Amino acid sequence: MRFLTSLFVSSLASLSLVAASPTPRDVEYDYVIVGSGAGGGPLACRLAREGYKTLLIEAGGDHNGNVNVSVPGYQGVVTQDPTLRWDIFVNHYKDINRQKRDPKFTYELGPYQYHVGPNPPSNAEEKGILYPRAQGLGGCVSHNALIWILPHARDWNFIKDLTGDDTWDAIKMNKYLDRVYQWQTAMPTDPTILLRDLPLAQHLIGGASALGLSIPLLTPLVNLGNALLNSPNNRLNPARDVTPGFFQIPLIMKGGVRTSVREYIQETVAKGYPLTVKLNTYVTKINFDESGDKPKASGVEYREGEYLYRASPLNRRERGTPGSVSAKREVIISAGTFNTPQLLKLSGIGPQDELRRHDIEVVKDLPGVGTNMMDRYEIPVNVKHPEDFPILDGCTFDLKPQDKCLKQWQTKPYILGAKGAYATNGLAATMVFTTKTSKTPASDMFVFGGPINFKGYFPQWADFAVRDHKHFSWYSLKAHSRNRAGTVELRSNDPFDQPLINFNYFDEGTTEGGADNLDLQSLIQAIRQSREALAHYYKYPILNGTKFVEESPGADVQSDAAIGQYIKDNAWGHHAACSCPIGPDDDPMAVLDSKFRVRGVENLRVVDASVFPDIPGVFIQSAIFMASEKAAEEIIQAAKEADKAAAEAPAS
Ligand SMILES: Cc1cc2nc3c(=O)[nH]c(=O)nc-3n(C[C@H](O)[C@H](O)[C@H](O)COP(=O)(O)OP(=O)(O)OC[C@H]3O[C@@H](n4cnc5c(N)ncnc54)[C@H](O)[C@@H]3O)c2cc1C
Ligand SMILES: *[C@@H]1O[C@H](CO)[C@@H](O)[C@H](O)[C@H]1NC(C)=O
Ligand SMILES: *[C@@H]1O[C@H](CO)[C@@H](O)[C@H](O)[C@H]1NC(C)=O
Repeated sequence: MRFLTSLFVSSLASLSLVAASPTPRDVEYDYVIVGSGAGGGPLACRLAREGYKTLLIEAGGDHNGNVNVSVPGYQGVVTQDPTLRWDIFVNHYKDINRQKRDPKFTYELGPYQYHVGPNPPSNAEEKGILYPRAQGLGGCVSHNALIWILPHARDWNFIKDLTGDDTWDAIKMNKYLDRVYQWQTAMPTDPTILLRDLPLAQHLIGGASALGLSIPLLTPLVNLGNALLNSPNNRLNPARDVTPGFFQIPLIMKGGVRTSVREYIQETVAKGYPLTVKLNTYVTKINFDESGDKPKASGVEYREGEYLYRASPLNRRERGTPGSVSAKREVIISAGTFNTPQLLKLSGIGPQDELRRHDIEVVKDLPGVGTNMMDRYEIPVNVKHPEDFPILDGCTFDLKPQDKCLKQWQTKPYILGAKGAYATNGLAATMVFTTKTSKTPASDMFVFGGPINFKGYFPQWADFAVRDHKHFSWYSLKAHSRNRAGTVELRSNDPFDQPLINFNYFDEGTTEGGADNLDLQSLIQAIRQSREALAHYYKYPILNGTKFVEESPGADVQSDAAIGQYIKDNAWGHHAACSCPIGPDDDPMAVLDSKFRVRGVENLRVVDASVFPDIPGVFIQSAIFMASEKAAEEIIQAAKEADKAAAEAPAS
């Protein structure tokens, strides 16, 4: 414990030193990486640990001491934290009137003041659907729901088959997962926390039973306890990808504390590796040396200052202090699925017509930048009980002294569930299966159960979700979706404006072979499965749970047509990916080659959620971490080859 504390303190010191000092102009960096999230963070650490001088530039700050970030139970609260959050607004449909059927449709009344739902006051500006994103050390990994689910073998083999590069073979990708596990621990919620809440346990038993597990009516808790010991990530089970089951959810935490990319970066700096982290700095442009036959990325332009991106609610419409830095070897963009294509376009890499429309000089016409964007579809069934779930007793989710659950989390050790409800992310367990209309034999449906009223993202969604302690949701997440019609387009050539983002859901998107309808059928099956779990709840009255009422979709929504409409009006996503895809040499829409290199230019790569040609797995951070470790290996290998070639070249 003492060791951990001193490591933590010394890492604070070195990080704040870097943040406070001016850009060291005399230092020549081998690599400049933009963005410290799931893609950029692990990559920066690995390159520095191999001895390369690496500069990691991050728009936000480091969140030191912010309990919003470290408490798993605050995974909703933290997405509302103004120091981290970016209020990105997207649309699911081009047709704005159709979009407004979604009760989450949001209007802006004044700066960062919102109205959610129909009947806005006059003068309210249409914004769209909130898509939470975070700035700061660790990127979205510092505010996400902590869920750690490994991708499926088909995700890697898909890239291998598409590009002919067999280093993407799923078996070969295992070594990158081993590397991730050198710095990432994942552990499930202590089952005793869940089993103490009998009405909650009764719901989870209902789910397990609905999925076909045989659970005795008189002693159900024992079987639930056993089921909760199974891992959905079992690497020893060759049939893991296609095995349905009822599982406990592994989280990226250590001893009940969120621990991931941010801590890995801090530790890498603290241990003295040549990693410099430049916080509160927003990159506005990639610079190119255009003297050779191919444009060569040479560095970046940036602005220093806090909250410069206008998606931040703390933005003061300042433009910051300009600066630039060069990279001896390469520039790597890891700004995320929305910001990476925006930055490439602002730098002259993208569809030339769009760039010209915004008076941007074309460096390389690359039509695929900001296309092919994919996401999951998510949809819940929400019910309400007359009584509170005991697990949430004393949890006020507001960091105030009355928040007894925070006190318990802060003062109790992580043994036998003593830390309590905040040592979980609130989504207790999951049903996993492959739907009848799945694109893949691999599981495409995760249905999470938790004592929360979760209906998707909108301003103050987290306050709404735990406003009372009487709700329970089975919330479905549809993986391996077929829609790849999402786009990220420039709104303007001002780097601080957020881009125009449209996912073009269902019939407005990919429809070949009935794709839209097949995905919709999977989601209808998920709603029916959720209701099946709710019906099985009543088979276990021995646990004394009270009767509930289904609030949504609601008793009147029963036919396939009615459920389908409900899904189209309410579905959302939060794993946006694939907007700068890897692809084969002969595909003009491929943005990257199989080594993460931006096509048509030199010394420039992209490493983040945008690189995937097809959205991987069921949760995405594990796949991004693995891709990041793979990119590190490719980059290090290229550096060694370049050094060898230089050493062998005859001296001039
Ligand atoms: C609410 C929520 C919950 C989630 N829960 C889970 C979960 O439980 N499990 C899971 O696997 N996934 C989850 N995800 C998804 C996952 O966290 C993201 O997909 C992942 O973090 C994306 O990684 P990335 O590297 O592409 O981008 P990010 O993690 O977003 O990192 C990008 C970084 O780049 C910085 N940046 C952007 N532009 C610039 C610029 N111009 N200059 C400087 N810096 C810049 C940003 O500040 C940010 O730090 C969740 C996401 C959200 C929003
Ligand atoms: C945590 O987030 C909430 C918003 O959800 C905010 O009010 C609070 O100030 C944040 N706490 C810290 C320590 O930043
Ligand atoms: C359920 O309620 C009955 C009657 O109040 C009580 O005897 C029993 O112990 C309760 N069961 C559990 C599992 O708490």
